[in-house]
Amino acid sequence: MRIPHHLAIIMDGNGRWAEKRHLPRIIGHRKGVETVQQIVATCRKQGVKFLTLFAFSSENWGRPHDEVDALMRLLGTFLEKELSRLLEQGIRLRVIGETGRLPGQVLRILQEVMSQTEANDKMTLCLALSYGSRNEMVRAFRKIGDQIACGKVLPEQISEKMISETLDTNGIPDPDLLIRTSGETRISNFLLWQLAYTELYFSEKLWPEFTSSELLEAFADFSQRQRRFGLTGAQMEGEEITHQEGRH
Ligand code: FPP
Repeated sequence: MRIPHHLAIIMDGNGRWAEKRHLPRIIGHRKGVETVQQIVATCRKQGVKFLTLFAFSSENWGRPHDEVDALMRLLGTFLEKELSRLLEQGIRLRVIGETGRLPGQVLRILQEVMSQTEANDKMTLCLALSYGSRNEMVRAFRKIGDQIACGKVLPEQISEKMISETLDTNGIPDPDLLIRTSGETRISNFLLWQLAYTELYFSEKLWPEFTSSELLEAFADFSQRQRRFGLTGAQMEGEEITHQEGRH
């Protein structure tokens, strides 16, 4: 089976999982954290090198105050508890998004976990927090704009490579596979630049019920696909390509 080098996941459906059971939405998020723990372990075991999880979007700040608060607390405890497991499994933590908006306490734990796991090289777990792809692009274009304004960069020097390197995901290869759970078939402002050639997989399962065997089903489906990166099938034959650096 072909394993994606970089897997990205939109973990959707926690709220609906709880509402179906007449439980508060936060119980769905708590159950969602258990799924996160299982999926992280399975990805590590299967040899995924980068796992990016959409944990909190720029738009999620608009949810009821109680839900935002509870999600932030959940994130803090998750990080505190997860540190030893990340160290044990050789997993490095990274974060993408407008992290300056996160509560100071969450930010401090994040920085602590990132610095303690910095040297780990088995897998990178990248959390998208306060993340929106358009917001990420605006921040990147402003940085490039500043460079132009101070004469360090000429407009004709702007390249795809420069844009990729200015985004939050700098140094992380583009995803090979994106999974979204809960039957929704949208990208929802997630990694718009990076998903250009990514294979998309939509699961009907709500995130709290998404298991490792569902994950392996998605990998089996991914294995059947021929990724052409704009070339012909014949051109791709015989070429083992895991990600599309330089191909369009
Ligand atoms: C979508 O479900 C999920 C979220 C907005 C947050 C995802 C968060 C977690 C899985 C827990 C915290 C994450 C980590 C990494 C500790 P939804 O609330 O939009 O569900 P709905 O669409 O059914 O309402």
